[in-house]
Amino acid sequence: MARVIYVNGVYAPYADAGVHAEDRGFQFADGVYEVCEVRDGCLVDERRHMARLQRSLSELRMAEPMDLRSLGVILRETVRRNRVKNGMVYLQITRGVSRRDFAFPPADVAPSVVCFAHSLSREKGSKRAAAGISVITLPDIRWTRVDIKTTGLLAQSLARQQAKDAGADEAWMVDKDGFVTEGASCNAWIVTGAGKLVTRPAESGILRGITREVAMEAARAKGLRFEERPFTVEEAKSASEAFQTSASGLVMPVVRIDGHVIGSGMPGDIALELRKTYHNVAEISSPHELLA
Ligand code: PDD
Repeated sequence: MARVIYVNGVYAPYADAGVHAEDRGFQFADGVYEVCEVRDGCLVDERRHMARLQRSLSELRMAEPMDLRSLGVILRETVRRNRVKNGMVYLQITRGVSRRDFAFPPADVAPSVVCFAHSLSREKGSKRAAAGISVITLPDIRWTRVDIKTTGLLAQSLARQQAKDAGADEAWMVDKDGFVTEGASCNAWIVTGAGKLVTRPAESGILRGITREVAMEAARAKGLRFEERPFTVEEAKSASEAFQTSASGLVMPVVRIDGHVIGSGMPGDIALELRKTYHNVAEISSPHELLA
């Protein structure tokens, strides 16, 4: 079965699909996106992801290309046509195609919409979580509107490559005061020696991760204590646990930071417990029931 990608109203094999060379996403990274987990063919936390998408569009004064129901149809149809059972679905919206100009194009320029879906092995994810991953830390060199989920990801791409070059799995970025902001494509967490979860407040310097929000709910449901406050690299290194959250990696234990072993060197109990119970708290969409 050939994989297909949705581009502006058409589901086409990848070889036949394309976007215009003057798409503002291509020239200015003038676009926003969402990544939703797909589990047993269903979307996870669609409502929250679509709410964040609407916020991203509104913060950039970009029009919504269609209503949430229609976007929901595209997400489901892309998952179905690619027979993705477990994995992710990616939705990107840009300000559309127009002669290159830094200012916005005329209001009648239609946004571009692209959607694709990938399978990801649940088994591989579980194995990775059972071993734990390693991260490096490096300066956060991004712009200040990282709360908007834009396709302007060059700093994160450079960071991830630097991690890879160092033999690590992810890069955690650090602000000018020495506090961890977030990972290249995830939110960062630690557990203190007293068993308290700590993660940076979403109000400053990070993307408000959906997995972060749901993990907080899961922690609350378990009666775990958590605190939203910045933490330094030093505090992270001496924490009893560290982990990160994202729609593609879920709750992923971190066992090394800059080569320094965290806790016992094995994934922490709290991180593993949150990973295990995550989907009891997450919202699983039905393939047929669309958002109102
Ligand atoms: N990344 N922070 C950044 C910078 C991210 O790119 C992401 C997600 C997150 C976690 O957000 P969420 O829990 O909503 O996935 C935090 C996605 C998965 C990506 O770019 O592939």
